[in-house]
Amino acid sequence: MLGNFVYCNPTKLYFGKDSLQYLNQELPKYGPNVVLVYGGGSIKKNGIYDAVVELLKKNGKNVAEIAGVMPNPTLAKLYEGIKIARGHQTDLLLAVGGGSVCDYAKAVAVSVHCPEDPWDKYYLRFEEPDCPVVPVGCVLTMVGTGSEMNAGAVITNQETKQKIGHVFADEAIMPRFSILNPRFTLTLPHDQMVSGIYDIFNHICEQYFSGEDDNTSDYISEGLMRSVIHSSRIANQNPQDYEARSNIMWTATWALNTLVAKGKSTDWMIHMLGQAVGGYTNAAHGMTLSAVSLPYYRFLLPYGLPKFKRFAQNVWDVTPEGKSDQQIAEEGLAAMEAWMKELGLAMNLTQLGVTEDMLETLADLTLVLPGGYNPPNREEILRIFRESL
Ligand code: NZQ
Ligand code: ZN
Repeated sequence: MLGNFVYCNPTKLYFGKDSLQYLNQELPKYGPNVVLVYGGGSIKKNGIYDAVVELLKKNGKNVAEIAGVMPNPTLAKLYEGIKIARGHQTDLLLAVGGGSVCDYAKAVAVSVHCPEDPWDKYYLRFEEPDCPVVPVGCVLTMVGTGSEMNAGAVITNQETKQKIGHVFADEAIMPRFSILNPRFTLTLPHDQMVSGIYDIFNHICEQYFSGEDDNTSDYISEGLMRSVIHSSRIANQNPQDYEARSNIMWTATWALNTLVAKGKSTDWMIHMLGQAVGGYTNAAHGMTLSAVSLPYYRFLLPYGLPKFKRFAQNVWDVTPEGKSDQQIAEEGLAAMEAWMKELGLAMNLTQLGVTEDMLETLADLTLVLPGGYNPPNREEILRIFRESL
């Protein structure tokens, strides 16, 4: 393990069927003014809203609401939420929803006391907050992003079509606590469930496909990937299988809570390509990743052959006898492709509404990160998008 790092993750997790009750332990730690943040209404249909509001009342909280946080939350919505949180002099932002709601709450948290424009400061200049940050707590209802235990907050500027994620360095932006009740995820539609599953898997890949040293993070990653594949097959057949859904929820958290990135340079180019697509089409995050993954990994394979070979053998159980390294590695990707199809993921950009004439703009919107085996240039990005159609 050759990298140098600092590890600190202060988020307290409450996991399991009865975990919502732990709000009774957490809420008294904060002042009286709480802003409840949620999405388009799923929590009102499945009863989670009522249960949370009852606990807030029981704990004597003065509650305001930011409702209607959309998937891929927008900058306009962020401005609206900042106003509400300021007006309520909020002591705690309680996010009840998926990654969009949790991310959004963090973006509000760093902006409430910030005199500058949050888009310019946090998303264009990637600065850290130099003002007090409002504490965030999460009750997670959609599994995939890891937002419940990390400092990421992705916001989409609809005017410029830029979807940009800021992973803050300061752990004060990580949720103070997160409640993970797998039962809360059982009402997710199938396409959201599998979108989240692929998001988890790809988060691990993004960190795994970098570096050539012998790194404990890679062994942890392989275990997490095997667990996701195993549980996803069960959940795909029977989405109500609590054991599978609970394992998926737990692996999602560990896939992106900074642990498996330790000592790694990390790649993250599938996410950069996917974010460009998401900003343009508003497609579900996990589907934007699945649609570009195979063309990208087939492009990357020659530059990271030993790791792709290891991936094939240790994650997909490809047998090496009588095969070249290239053949083993390709078999690994073929196994991944078959699993993705089995889940019913978007396998190309056309399914997401992307057409040839959009590709130049998508290439312009793609940020290139330097940590992977071969950061693509613009021409290569265009080629990957074209092959993803
Ligand atoms: O809005 P409601 O009505 O609640 O419906 C949501 C939404 O339509 C629905 N949903 C959530 N929980 C449900 C449910 N429906 C029924 N039953 C439930 N229990 O699911 C839909 C999608 O929710 P969303 O929060 O958008 O999904 P996800 O968790 O995938 O979050 C996506 C956002 O997170 C960002 C993405 O870019 C995207 O903006 N990411 C955040 C990351 C981070 N913080 O580190 C990393 C990720 O790579 C990702 O970029
Ligand atoms: Zn993701």
